[in-house]
Amino acid sequence: MSGAVLVTGAAGFIGSHVCEALLARGETVMGIDNFDPYYSPVEKQANLAALHARPGFSFLEFDVRNVDGWAPVVAGVDRIVHLAALAGVRASVEQPLDYVAVNVAGTVRVLAAAVQAGVRQLVFASTSSVYGQGVEFPFREDQPADRPLAPYPATKRAAEMLAHSYHVAHGLNVSVLRFFSVYGPRGRPDMMPRLLAESLLHGSSVTLFAGGQMWRDWTYVSDIVAGVLGALDTPRGYEIYNLGCGAPVLMADFVTHLERLAGRKANVRSVPAPASEVVRTGADITKAAAHFGYQPQISVEAGLKLFWDWFAAR
Ligand SMILES: NC(=O)c1ccc[n+]([C@@H]2O[C@H](COP(=O)([O-])OP(=O)(O)OC[C@H]3O[C@@H](n4cnc5c(N)ncnc54)[C@H](O)[C@@H]3O)[C@@H](O)[C@H]2O)c1
Repeated sequence: MSGAVLVTGAAGFIGSHVCEALLARGETVMGIDNFDPYYSPVEKQANLAALHARPGFSFLEFDVRNVDGWAPVVAGVDRIVHLAALAGVRASVEQPLDYVAVNVAGTVRVLAAAVQAGVRQLVFASTSSVYGQGVEFPFREDQPADRPLAPYPATKRAAEMLAHSYHVAHGLNVSVLRFFSVYGPRGRPDMMPRLLAESLLHGSSVTLFAGGQMWRDWTYVSDIVAGVLGALDTPRGYEIYNLGCGAPVLMADFVTHLERLAGRKANVRSVPAPASEVVRTGADITKAAAHFGYQPQISVEAGLKLFWDWFAAR
């Protein structure tokens, strides 16, 4: 008989989808989130709305920086999906200490709680931006990741390494997942798909870096969720996996795809890319495929259609 799964950041974009998928396969889920104001807490409450009614779901407003309130949070929990974080690359340049407090110190709290509860697997959300500008393309997990371009990826890389130290010291099983640009329904309002969709529907101006001459390995949220569940079900000591689509898209083409779906032009303004922005991301996903059968199903064309249909119907 399995215990419950704790999902941190449950009210967020990816967290709400992960909870939904866990509940759909009959799991008991404990969600926590502090409704951080980086983007509207009203939107986060809405992300949770459909979950509250589902049997097996409970939720607690809780901050991962909490020092000594963890015992009731992890009671009955035997697996953890740790998604709670501050996740803005450019915001992290302005507020590095907040990013350290949540993404590094908060993750250490989660690791300690996992040890305390004796969990059998912890999955941690990291990011493709730990590769910086990258050494070889596509990015492989065994490439160096020690030249981050902003505090956000630096804090994620630090947390990856702290998780390794917990694996060594306490035998905790940890799978680190490096997500590549995730999009889909309930997508974050600070990310390009949402900003573009806003522009297409309401005419707002949207900033495009370097005239769209940058590449991102956009990954549809259901593929990410499948990867999270696959990793959760496959404890292997300490491992790092890329979760991408494996088909990087030129940002200029990404804009054109969405414009075609909307049947009009976005109000795009090109500016030079800030130094914190990676020019190109692309995932080698052979390791996740080999270890837990990760196989993205949704092309960017299909995913943008699903995303646009959701956005237009809001
Ligand atoms: N969306 C992407 O493209 C992407 C790419 C790479 C990595 N990631 C990582 O995936 C995870 C989920 O990202 P997302 O896009 O769903 O972001 P999100 O901001 O929608 O979700 C993160 C959630 O964590 C919560 N949170 C923040 N600080 C907290 C704290 N101190 N205590 C408790 N909860 C807290 C927020 O309120 C939010 O609901 C993050 O760890 C992020 O770094 C996301």
